[in-house]
Amino acid sequence: MKTGIGFRPGRTARETCIHGVRTNETLTDVHGPSAIVAWATSRARSEKTTMQTQSTPSDLLKALSWRAAVKSFDSTRKIPAETFAALEQAMVLAPSSFGLQPWRFVVVGDAEVRGRIRAAAWNQSQVTDASHLVVLARRPTMTGDDVERHMRRICEVRNVERQTLNGYAGMINGFIGGSIKDHLSEWNARQVYIALGFFMLAAAQLGVDTCPLEGFNPEQVDAILGLPAIGYTSTVLVAAGYRSVDDPYTKQAKVRYAQAQVIDRR
Ligand SMILES: Cc1cc2nc3c(=O)[nH]c(=O)nc-3n(C[C@H](O)[C@H](O)[C@H](O)COP(=O)(O)O)c2cc1C
Repeated sequence: MKTGIGFRPGRTARETCIHGVRTNETLTDVHGPSAIVAWATSRARSEKTTMQTQSTPSDLLKALSWRAAVKSFDSTRKIPAETFAALEQAMVLAPSSFGLQPWRFVVVGDAEVRGRIRAAAWNQSQVTDASHLVVLARRPTMTGDDVERHMRRICEVRNVERQTLNGYAGMINGFIGGSIKDHLSEWNARQVYIALGFFMLAAAQLGVDTCPLEGFNPEQVDAILGLPAIGYTSTVLVAAGYRSVDDPYTKQAKVRYAQAQVIDRR
């Protein structure tokens, strides 16, 4: 009987390739995001145990070195729809504890609404000037209903009977009712930050600039977007687009501790 849970060797990503090449100030994606979107939407999974990629370690490091938290976006440049669709999928495909996906990603296109969010975000220009703005929101709690929602989705996607998931659901319910019970909002926030990381890394690989923003008033942003009414609360924002040639910040050297001070080998 199919149980719908558990890791089975061989169920890894299908062969696809995404890689970025640096061309002066911008990164150009060579393979485009269509492959990612097709993979994500089809949910096809190959039986191959390794993923063939044309992206090299050097490509990855180039993209990550190029990435910077952009302060000044070129408001005339828009992210192509297909590229942004891939970035959305990068968040959708992010992992979360037990796979519960305690998040909602609000893509704010309305200029007037973005103006109001900017006012609630220390007047940071990225909020209005970037091509796209995403408000990453989380469930402020986690209940049996959230667990049940996930179980229903597993049944739907993997075509398994709900009863086969009883043990799994019981384990998750036991976990959320345990010592983490008073910290579920914080726990969910941690999951949301993984999605943020996926979005930013994917963006860098596709030559799209980003700026993560925690400098905002969550209560105000919640009120602007009506998030509490749908059971969510804002956690972090991310602006995405293309850096302005005048952005002084992106021309400065990246400040990081030396590898030996950060990577501990034992
Ligand atoms: C969770 C988080 C919140 C941040 N909030 C802001 C923000 O509100 N405004 C801003 O300009 N930069 C913000 N940043 C950007 C950081 O200041 C920046 O990532 C850091 O200085 C390192 O620089 P780099 O990203 O360019 O390498 C934030 C970064 C993170 C990870």
